[in-house]
Amino acid sequence: MEQLVIEGGRRLEGELEVQGSKNSALPILAAAAVTGETSILRHCPRLRDTDAAMRILRYIGCEAERAGDAVIVRSDAPKRWDIPDDLMREMRSSIIFLGALLSRFGRAELSAPGGCDIGLRPIDLHLSALSALGVQTEERCGRLCCSAPNGLRGASVTLPFPSVGATENAMLCAVCADGETVIRNAAREPEICDLAAFLTGSGANVRGAGTDTVTVSPAETFRATEYTIMPDRIMAASFLAAAAVTGGKVCLRRAAPQYLVPVLPYFEQTGCVIKVSGEDVLLHAPNRLRSVRLVRTMPYPGFPTDFQASAMVMAALSQGTSVFVETIFENRYRHVPELQRMGAHITVHNSVAVVEGVPELCGAAVQATDLRGGAALVTAGLAARGVTRVSCVGHIDRGCERFEYNLALLGAGIRRIDTDME
Ligand code: UD1
Repeated sequence: MEQLVIEGGRRLEGELEVQGSKNSALPILAAAAVTGETSILRHCPRLRDTDAAMRILRYIGCEAERAGDAVIVRSDAPKRWDIPDDLMREMRSSIIFLGALLSRFGRAELSAPGGCDIGLRPIDLHLSALSALGVQTEERCGRLCCSAPNGLRGASVTLPFPSVGATENAMLCAVCADGETVIRNAAREPEICDLAAFLTGSGANVRGAGTDTVTVSPAETFRATEYTIMPDRIMAASFLAAAAVTGGKVCLRRAAPQYLVPVLPYFEQTGCVIKVSGEDVLLHAPNRLRSVRLVRTMPYPGFPTDFQASAMVMAALSQGTSVFVETIFENRYRHVPELQRMGAHITVHNSVAVVEGVPELCGAAVQATDLRGGAALVTAGLAARGVTRVSCVGHIDRGCERFEYNLALLGAGIRRIDTDME
């Protein structure tokens, strides 16, 4: 079993280029299956989740291979519209292939994603959006069998909640529908804009991405395209948090500061000095962070739920008390008991966590319970006195590219060990 072993207390300093966005890469890899053309996706991060998406692409009959920082997908001859259960289970976001398969084949068969580490993740919003586009769904023995017996037709879709995945699935389905689709109360996340830009570059016409109304005109013909995946705004924020808790000073290159607008004020309120210069973001942390009164996670442009755990580590080490309200996922405080083992003072009541800052945390053996929570435990370990061992590293590998290598570049004392080999 692999562990990350962290010798805490070293100040992070230096510069780093931010990886490509996982949450952009996954729907764009799925979209590449729709076009029937060659798509060259630059800055596609090397992650467990992107590897899983590439395995799905190969299973359905596309070619998907890495070339440097790019993934090249050729989708001229896919032959399968089903995704087997083991591939579905490898990655919870594989539901994003539903819209792509429907677009390509007019049908899809895959297993319903079950409960997961941060909450139930139902797909009712995906299915009702797809149903407006003419998709009929039957559930047979845990498998979802979807088809569009009368073809996909452009429609007006209003989402009851701006779900990121449901917006993406509706967009993927709409690019091959007959007529225009208007998605209202759409998610406004930057990753939606990235998917829209890829689809438009491939021959569709997607307007309004980044607002709550996205209009998709289907492609008459698709074309081969080369596209650069946007920087990962959550990883950028995570590295800034790691520097902040160690009293560090870092410069993140290619950090796309425009997408960090929901989190940069948080860093400033804790006493960090932030400077934006073109695509770079510089952070200079104070000796001791200050608490922030209230952090409430919300859909974009609100405070991202994916950064809540790392922000909580900052709060745990701040002077004063901070209150967190998690409004997006119902089970997203699983890092809290692990942080408590490290000496954090946090109490949770349903969706509210009250964090009383302490002057220092102490190293401990902790377990990553999900991707972002795991990254947050590493962040806590960087600041803690003594040695922290983070197990269940596989969660972290789903979304953080070469995490320990990049942190070590900034001066962290961190290494990966295989406990079976010790
Ligand atoms: C995406 C991101 C994830 C991020 C989340 C919220 C990817 C691969 N993942 O996940 O990192 O934390 O957005 O920013 O991009 N919901 C329903 N029914 C549905 C769909 C969603 O009730 O059909 C609920 C979910 O249970 C959750 C909330 O809506 O409570 C938000 O989910 P959604 O925006 O869909 O997140 P994901 O697309 O799963």
